Amino acid sequence: MLSVNQLDVAYGASQALYGVSMSAQPGKVTCVLGRNGVGKTTLMKSLSGHLEPRAGDIQWQGKSLKGMAPYDRAKQGIAYVPQGRDIFAQLTVEENLQTAFSALPKSQRFIDPEVYSLFPVLQKMLKRRGGDLSGGQQQQLAIARALLLRPKVLILDEPTEGIQPSIIKDIGNVIKLLRDRGDMAIVLVEQYLDFAAELADEFVILERGRVVASGEGAELKSSEEARRLLAI
Ligand SMILES: Nc1ncnc2c1ncn2[C@@H]1O[C@H](COP(=O)(O)OP(=O)(O)OP(=O)(O)O)[C@@H](O)[C@H]1O
Ligand SMILES: [Mg+2]
Repeated sequence: MLSVNQLDVAYGASQALYGVSMSAQPGKVTCVLGRNGVGKTTLMKSLSGHLEPRAGDIQWQGKSLKGMAPYDRAKQGIAYVPQGRDIFAQLTVEENLQTAFSALPKSQRFIDPEVYSLFPVLQKMLKRRGGDLSGGQQQQLAIARALLLRPKVLILDEPTEGIQPSIIKDIGNVIKLLRDRGDMAIVLVEQYLDFAAELADEFVILERGRVVASGEGAELKSSEEARRLLAI
């Protein structure tokens, strides 16, 4: 289990998270919801190791991740798909996938054909440059790159942002499939309540850096409070 306890995170003098607690379990999707600027990405970067909290702790399988660099967290199976995808525009699709190898032992440095069965479009585009892909294809590439790490925790920061509906549906189906295998904890950041409600086993809602609501995914669909907290 991944557990976040009373996390405070700041950018210099400007505090972005206040006492945030949440958890994520294998075989479950935990959705982190909230409007623009409430601290969702700050929380994900703290999980991935790109930001070091000022107070509080993050534990994975009972051990604190304090001070552990992002690449070491990746080696531990914590894979991060950043908001905006961060695909290398000048590298080919194949080369983008191969960037995952640096966190893998030599014996695992191959592209598992499974990623092509999850995202068939990638196999057709292996020699294309990342920058030539559509936003949706880049998102699929970013998720595939993370999956090559054989993650135990998969962090997805707004994977549906700015993406066409047909690909959003495909990504939702892949998330369900990965969840149903039962060995991966998935942390999904979303702003769209309907997409989140489809997938969430558990949720937390942030507002101005604080958790203001949390519960079981099944409550999300009919929650007036959630609708209010996410309304623009
Ligand atoms: N590098 C930074 N330096 C200073 N402040 C930052 C930095 N990054 C984010 N912030 C501030 O921290 C707060 C939380 O930002 P964050 O990006 O975590 O929000 P978010 O919920 O992911 O928003 P969005 O939905 O737009 O992606 C905001 O007030 C933002 O302006
Ligand atoms: Mg964000």
